[in-house]
Amino acid sequence: MGSISFPVQLKNPGLLDSRGLVAGEWKQAEGNKTFPVYEPSSGDVLYNVSDLSKNDFIAAIDSAHEGYKALYPGMTAKERGIVLRKWNDLILENIEDLTNILSLENGKTYAEAKGEVGYAASFVSWFAEEATRAYGDYIPSQYKNAMVFTVKEPVGVCGIITPWNFPAAMITRKIAPAIAAGCSVVIKPPSETPLSAIALAKLALEAGVPPACIHVVPTKDRQASLELATNPKVKKISFTGSTGVGKMLSQLAMGTMKKVSMELGGNAPFIVFEDANLDLAVEGALVCKFRSSGQTCVCANRIYAHRNIMDAFAAKLVARVKAMKLGRGIDEGTTQGPLVNKAAVNKVKSHVADALEKGGQLITGGKAPEGLKGFFFEPTVITGATQQMQVATDETFGPLAAIFPFESDEEVIQMANSTEFGLAGYFFSENVGRVMRVAGKLEVGMVGVNTGLISACETPFGGVKESGVGREGSMYGLAEYQNIKAVTIGNLHE
Ligand code: SIN
Repeated sequence: MGSISFPVQLKNPGLLDSRGLVAGEWKQAEGNKTFPVYEPSSGDVLYNVSDLSKNDFIAAIDSAHEGYKALYPGMTAKERGIVLRKWNDLILENIEDLTNILSLENGKTYAEAKGEVGYAASFVSWFAEEATRAYGDYIPSQYKNAMVFTVKEPVGVCGIITPWNFPAAMITRKIAPAIAAGCSVVIKPPSETPLSAIALAKLALEAGVPPACIHVVPTKDRQASLELATNPKVKKISFTGSTGVGKMLSQLAMGTMKKVSMELGGNAPFIVFEDANLDLAVEGALVCKFRSSGQTCVCANRIYAHRNIMDAFAAKLVARVKAMKLGRGIDEGTTQGPLVNKAAVNKVKSHVADALEKGGQLITGGKAPEGLKGFFFEPTVITGATQQMQVATDETFGPLAAIFPFESDEEVIQMANSTEFGLAGYFFSENVGRVMRVAGKLEVGMVGVNTGLISACETPFGGVKESGVGREGSMYGLAEYQNIKAVTIGNLHE
């Protein structure tokens, strides 16, 4: 299995597996075909994982279609909640191993990886409770001697397609509500980071998720994974990734009218008003620009600072950025990991070059560091950014903090909203009137005021405009995996 020795000795070695999970069996690809998973901090192969095929997707979908009744009506909501609670406990019991796997395959620092595993568990624990709150309604009927009530039913088989930037949390944010609702799932994990998904599925089985209700189909073959969007037995697609791929999947899914949840690209504005507490704003910028080396959909992409405080804000930010230490995620002392691959490094490089060509000033960083072998890029700050630069319109997905000066509220709100994306937006102000006004005017699904951290299991996660449809986590997340059935009973009394 895997054919390469893993750099870290796991306490629970069974969590590391190169195979997919199809119809309750851990499955190798035909002819033992595999694809390499690279360690971003060295660029070396970390592990080889089974490269499953379209036939494996079909087998997984068939099994999920036959099997989902084991969760609904086979189990009560309370029983599904108990299984999820056990899964949460197992994730937390294995947090060190899961953290090592995640950090090695994704590159994020040990602290960030551990934070992500905890974040992943929080969705499982949240939906363990939500499972029992899938209330229907009683509706007064306009007809005499009649009543109407609604039942929330699981949609059925769900195709789950997750990104490499959160190898654990995006799995649980989708699967936990699916299982809570009584759906079976077929997961296509990212080919860059499939090991966390496999490990989590092992723990889900151990927790008691029926084998026919969870499938993991690792593959490098994009065409094969499109089976999830076209197969009529799949009733729902949940995807996190780029807007381009999200649109393509949605179009395919509409061929059989599947329900869709799309958590797509962002281009978050981060506004520092003249009356902001600058220390808080710097903390916020560090968290939301440099978390996972700038590789989150909710990362600040455009930092707008009022002209009167821009230099002071930039100086404080730069002092903190210069203190960051690049390195391998699992090594002690590392505060910034690598990017996921060479293409990601090249994208940041091109945004930096474009900004400098168009008049931006490089204050720190700006290049791939010397002496580090993997896919690293120095944490970078550029001032004097303008709306004409690539960074204004295109998500960098890397550690580039581009600071744009502004003068009035109207001007900055107009610039903040001048994008087709609408996932997250942040601003810092000590003026309560401005807080209410600007929060209302930002065209985004999530607003952070005086904080750079908005992600939590209880908070609805999702965007507007071309950043997607649907909400994950929170009291709204379960509904994404349910259909409402209305039952009208007539002629009750005569
Ligand atoms: C994402 O980048 O897709 C998710 C970020 C988060 O949950 O905070």
